[in-house]
Amino acid sequence: MASILLAVLYATGTTALENGVGKLPALGFNTWNMYQCDYTAEILLEQAHAMVDHGLVKAGYDTFMLDDCYSLRERDKKGRIVEDPEKFPKGMKHFTKSLSKLGLRAGIYSNAGYRTCGGFPGSYGHEAQDLETFAHWGFTYLKYDNCYIPFDNVTQENVYGRYARMSDAIAARAKKTRSTPFQLALCEWGWQQPWIWGGRLGQSWRIGGDIRPWWSALSSIINQASFIASETRFHGRNDLDILEVGNTDQGTPPGNLTYDQAKSHFTAWALLKSPLLISSDMKTATPETLEILENSDILKISQDPHVGEGIAPFRWGRNPDYTWDPDHPAEYWTGNSSYGVVFMVLNTEDAPRQMTFNLTESWAIRAGRLYDVYDLWAHKKTGTAYRNISLELPPHGVAALLLNDAGPEPEGLEPYCAGYWQCSFPNGTYYSN
Ligand code: GLA
Repeated sequence: MASILLAVLYATGTTALENGVGKLPALGFNTWNMYQCDYTAEILLEQAHAMVDHGLVKAGYDTFMLDDCYSLRERDKKGRIVEDPEKFPKGMKHFTKSLSKLGLRAGIYSNAGYRTCGGFPGSYGHEAQDLETFAHWGFTYLKYDNCYIPFDNVTQENVYGRYARMSDAIAARAKKTRSTPFQLALCEWGWQQPWIWGGRLGQSWRIGGDIRPWWSALSSIINQASFIASETRFHGRNDLDILEVGNTDQGTPPGNLTYDQAKSHFTAWALLKSPLLISSDMKTATPETLEILENSDILKISQDPHVGEGIAPFRWGRNPDYTWDPDHPAEYWTGNSSYGVVFMVLNTEDAPRQMTFNLTESWAIRAGRLYDVYDLWAHKKTGTAYRNISLELPPHGVAALLLNDAGPEPEGLEPYCAGYWQCSFPNGTYYSN
């Protein structure tokens, strides 16, 4: 009896859904931020080709997510979703096959409601049928949105229940067809704390509403993420939304991120281990955009096969710890990785600033040790540090550092403990306090 009870408890616990898919953050392209509904297969395949040409697929961006607006407004007589023949004149299968030839797996989009946010058929009540259609078309990854929710007397469910219907359909299909389950990206905009339960149903969950290509939108997402950063792990992660890197002066209204803001954006998304889905024009991508997206030192940490968690704040900096401030989120972050201890320092001010932290503020640092400092943007070792690091950062700029042990720190350094409280001589006399 006890063991049965325990099994039930484990099954309903918060552990991630380890069904073999989505262990690491998804890297790829998503059509939404750049195109919304305005695309054709041909236009999208040009993007896919540009990704190959720029070496992005090789760098790990291997997923191509077809977001909203790919179908006709109504289902066919058998209730099936039909691809829009104007957008996909050669059919959806041809589209996914073309992607596959370029080394890209295909992802698609639907809704836990009557319609998609763009007004196309949604999958509520059609979960198994639509999944079959998506699989038949050649997709293996599904983003699941939250528009056009049926009345309560219809669903008799919460957000969780509406998403569980699709998650269950995925598990049932995988079992029946003995195939790999679809990867499921939940997109309920952080309404009902999906970071608590999302890992039971899928591999990622959006933590808020839609991103926009300006700094206030990014800092607000970083602020939200700072409070739940530790919910990210293998097979289950906070999704900070599609990237806006490259959308400066593009889109309606056009984005206005500076180079430093775009770097901070990418650094935070990658080191917090969010999915990284590009959504800007890869055909005309600038060297700066490509430099950011192809930062192999940072991508390596995003894709660390041995450490699933991302960075989390150890000090808010400008504000007292745990202050909710969408304009000035947490500034000092740390985490572990297979390659060393990671630090991210973010200047949330509009002016340049000197920023300093003690190494032992990070849980992952050993006291009394020297550390080699590798700069993940300069791509080189910038020095050896002990006790603290001081940096000069531009407005909304970022530093991303990797620290590796370089032996004991010099003898006789005072104070004898970098942490002030409870520091004691062997005889029980306090050095501090
Ligand atoms: C919602 C989602 C976006 C995008 C659009 C498509 O707004 O949050 O990411 O998928 O729907 O209509």
